[in-house]
Amino acid sequence: MIAVLPFYSTQVLEYTNFLYWSFAVVAAIILGLVIFFTYRYTTKYKAKSPKDKPQNGSLNHKFEAFALITSFLITVFFMFFTVQSMKEIQTIPDDPKPDIIITGHQWWWEAEYPNSKVITSNEVHIPAGKKVLLALNSADVIHSWWVPELGRKIDMIPGMTNYMWMYAEKPGEYLGTCSEFCGMQHARMRIRVIADDEANFKKWQEEQLEPVITEGSALFEKGRNLFEQKTCTNCHAINGTSYNENIGPNLTHFASRKRFLGDFKEVNTTNLRAWLHDPQKVKEGAKMPNFILSDQELNALVEYIIHLK
Ligand code: CUA
Repeated sequence: MIAVLPFYSTQVLEYTNFLYWSFAVVAAIILGLVIFFTYRYTTKYKAKSPKDKPQNGSLNHKFEAFALITSFLITVFFMFFTVQSMKEIQTIPDDPKPDIIITGHQWWWEAEYPNSKVITSNEVHIPAGKKVLLALNSADVIHSWWVPELGRKIDMIPGMTNYMWMYAEKPGEYLGTCSEFCGMQHARMRIRVIADDEANFKKWQEEQLEPVITEGSALFEKGRNLFEQKTCTNCHAINGTSYNENIGPNLTHFASRKRFLGDFKEVNTTNLRAWLHDPQKVKEGAKMPNFILSDQELNALVEYIIHLK
């Protein structure tokens, strides 16, 4: 894994390799001794009759001391270099200017890009081939951010900001998951990081900054009105409108995303309708209330939200 993080110094990479090989040697020695003594026990040391008593052989104090001191020194040796490498990997500037602020919520992710002012949820876009500084927060309980291919795991703690570097060598989609138990739907708090090449990342940002459509078919207009009447606006922000409560996911350009509900469901009219119809049935425990919408209301709301591209 470390090998795909070329911004680590050669020293760290060499140390990592050295660490792997040293552990392999130590593991091989221990495993060899276990096999050897298992064999000896079943042959040489086996009791020949039930009357055989185990013999108290003379303890080899010198050997014991040697084993104890050696393993202690090995531990201290590796700990010293490991801590040094960790420091180097995790160097955060004194005055960090994060590229993305990620906030964990029960059970979805919010991503805010302070430079461009883009706010999105669940799908995190990053430029490939560039170190990205993340600031990580939580809105409720402790979550933990972990996209194994892109860097370390880090806790998201309410009232505290943690920082980490993330790096994707190549464009592509990288999956991760919340890795700290955070309640009922912890297992459905998946992460999808999309690394774009430079041009696509720029394009994505520009698209996200475009104003949302406010006019459309009669059904669309009805949906937009319902969005206000049914108090969806008390929790959901749509940039470029007067709806700016960031309690639930920001729905600006919702339909440009592939998945929703913490990467649980694909964005399409069927899934959206099922969700609006009965959120608890789709994702039990979710904070989204059931507004007991009629069929017509559902049609209109789906028509509105699915056009937020
Ligand atoms: Cu969030 Cu587990």
